[in-house]
Amino acid sequence: MSKKQKVSVIGLGYVGLPLALRAAERGYEVVGYDPDRDKVASINEGQSPFEDDFVSELLPKYPIKASEKEDVLRESDIVLICVPTPVDEMQNPIYDYVVSAAAAAARNLRSGALVVLESTVNPGVSEEIVLPIFEKKGLQVGRDFFLAHCPERINPGDPKWNVGNIPRVVGAFTEEGASRAVKFYRSIVDAPIKAMKSIREAEAVKVVENSFRDINIAFVNELAQSFDRLGIDIVDVIDGAATKPFAFLPHYPSCGVGGHCIPVDPYYLIEYAKKAGFDHRFMRAAR
Ligand SMILES: NC(=O)c1ccc[n+]([C@@H]2O[C@H](COP(=O)([O-])OP(=O)(O)OC[C@H]3O[C@@H](n4cnc5c(N)ncnc54)[C@H](O)[C@@H]3O)[C@@H](O)[C@H]2O)c1
Repeated sequence: MSKKQKVSVIGLGYVGLPLALRAAERGYEVVGYDPDRDKVASINEGQSPFEDDFVSELLPKYPIKASEKEDVLRESDIVLICVPTPVDEMQNPIYDYVVSAAAAAARNLRSGALVVLESTVNPGVSEEIVLPIFEKKGLQVGRDFFLAHCPERINPGDPKWNVGNIPRVVGAFTEEGASRAVKFYRSIVDAPIKAMKSIREAEAVKVVENSFRDINIAFVNELAQSFDRLGIDIVDVIDGAATKPFAFLPHYPSCGVGGHCIPVDPYYLIEYAKKAGFDHRFMRAAR
């Protein structure tokens, strides 16, 4: 790299902070913007704000500049949005964090920059929510900036899979946006980067992955309850089924899904499809 490219990360949580450090490790100048003052202070002191071996190892070696002020985003070549996408008590997606992060990116955008949404979203969010925020400022995608989506797949605490070795998919609005995004991810990830047909397909990948997991876990947990009454050992059955070398993926019974993602992400698709008149009955039943 001749002149160091500047990468900004919006949202320095479980997704954003490892990503920022990986980019720093790969030679980018990296800054992070997060309104959480304590988190910012901890990062600037070289202390991980949460337990994460990957972060604790890289932070002292590759210090990044964190700030709770959005002007740190100025002059960035690449802006990565890694903010929360939760649901409310009625299971409706909350897009507020994505909206405010995109607005901050738009206010501080350098001409020609690449903006990538990494947060988990339903298909349509980049086009219907994120893009208009930039357009309202008179910024045209493909001319003034590039917009892509690369859903994050990190599994915090995983000793094997991390931001540097998990394959990624990328979708963008224009060909140049896609090729810039693929080039960036190839520079920080030592694994295949697949360019999707469009940004909507890239958005759908992540919701499908997590819904697939949700449905399979619900299925095996239902089997566990039924087999308990029938006097059948579910683990022995799954082990048996897993000897089939194709078309079976073993899942084992557990207390059910937890965490931030699997119980939440299916609702992003369920609610979005509802607006188009489609009822994801199967996905709802798994919840
Ligand atoms: N944690 C995971 O295992 C995981 C894995 C894959 C994908 N994801 C997805 O990645 C996204 C981020 O998840 P996370 O786990 O890193 O969340 P997190 O809560 O750990 O971190 C998000 C950070 O964003 C900050 N933030 C909120 N609003 C902001 C704004 N407007 N501008 C700047 N910063 C802002 C918060 O202060 C917080 O530090 C979500 O969409 C999530 O579904 C998470």
